[in-house]
Order: sequence, then structure tokens, then C-alpha cells
Amino acid sequence: MRLRAARFHEAEVLSELCRRSKASWGYDAAFMAASAASLRVEFEAIERGRVFVAEDEAGELLGVASYEWLQATGAAELDLLFVAPGVMRKGVGRALLDRVVAAVTAARARRLVILADPNAAGFYRRYGAAYLCDAPSDAIPGRTLPLFSLELASGAGSGSSRSYA
Ligand SMILES: CC(C)(COP(=O)(O)OP(=O)(O)OC[C@H]1O[C@@H](n2cnc3c(N)ncnc32)[C@H](O)[C@@H]1OP(=O)(O)O)[C@@H](O)C(=O)NCCC(=O)NCCS
Repeated sequence: MRLRAARFHEAEVLSELCRRSKASWGYDAAFMAASAASLRVEFEAIERGRVFVAEDEAGELLGVASYEWLQATGAAELDLLFVAPGVMRKGVGRALLDRVVAAVTAARARRLVILADPNAAGFYRRYGAAYLCDAPSDAIPGRTLPLFSLELASGAGSGSSRSYA
């Protein structure tokens, strides 16, 4: 597995990967339609170097992650983290999150906040993120999601070098 910055022409195929990945939890069509806007990889984020992809030796895309800055807080937010359904639980998600953590740590973020899908909460706990509270979903009115924080100054994060097999 290789990690690299996303390329402009990949925005749509990566957005499609996000939708497939999200749908793997069994959400229905109405939920997926309501979530569509929040599952898009934006050109601007690619341009700013905030989108990373994982690919295999053949160049097949295995997952995508991106982040944003939360204004005036010194914190970054994980925007997207989606692994292709066929390669989940093989270390791709952790490797992509390691890449985001490295990028925001290099840019001196104090913490990375994560508004998580409830099905992914165990993954973030395993990574070392702390649960803060339930917070409103950006995409679905009335839905709440677990909010996590990864404190970067304390060196949290797995730092794992485990690779996709
Ligand atoms: C959540 C997700 C990103 C995790 O990526 P992944 O590549 O499957 O996870 P990894 O193989 O890197 O797992 C790292 C560790 O977390 C654990 N883990 C992974 N997914 C987990 C889950 N859903 N619940 C509990 N633990 C989980 C793994 O067992 C592994 O543990 P280990 O260190 O003991 O080996 C991926 O399953 C995914 O894309 N899901 C669908 C979309 C989604 O919900 N994304 C998150 C949006 S907030």
C-alpha cells in the first residue's frame, strides 16, 4: 500500500468511494441521499493538499482521508475517512489517519477532532481518540454522532507502521 496526495481528476471517483464505504454500514437510500453532500471530495481540499489516498501496487484506490482547520481554535477536524469495502480491517484506515495526524501535527494543530459515524467509534477509540460528547450531525437533522478528540501535543495516535496485506 502507498499513501499520496489526491489528484484533481480523482475527485469524483473518490467521492464515489466515500459513498460505497458509508453504505457498507447498511444505511438506506434515503439516508444516503441526505448524506451525499457530506461525502464529496472537494477540489479545493485537493488543491490545498488536505486530501490523501491509499492505493495498492496496481494503483487501485483503497481509501481516502481529508481534514479541515477549525478557525481560531488551533484544532483541525477530520473531514473524511473512508476505506473501500473490500479492504476494511487491513490497516488502511489507520494508515490514512496516521497520514492526517502527521500533516496536522506538522502544521502545529493541538488536536484533531472527529465527528464519527457511530459504527466507526470503536476504530477511533482503538486509535487513541477520547470520546467528548454526542454532537449534531452536519448532514442529517436531528441525528447525533459521537465527537472524539485526538490530543496531538501529548503524542496520541498509534504511530503504527502496520501495512496493508
Ligand atoms: C472506520 C474505517 C475507516 C476503519 O478503517 P479500517 O481500514 O477498516 O480499519 P483498520 O484495519 O485500520 O483498523 C485499525 C484497528 O481498529 C479496529 N477497528 C477497525 N474498525 C473498527 C470498528 N468499526 N469498530 C471497532 N474496531 C475497529 C481494527 O480491528 C484494528 O484494531 P487492531 O489495532 O487491534 O488491529 C473503515 O471501516 C470505514 O471506512 N468504514 C466505513 C466508513 C466510515 O464509517 N468511515 C468513518 C467516518 S467517521
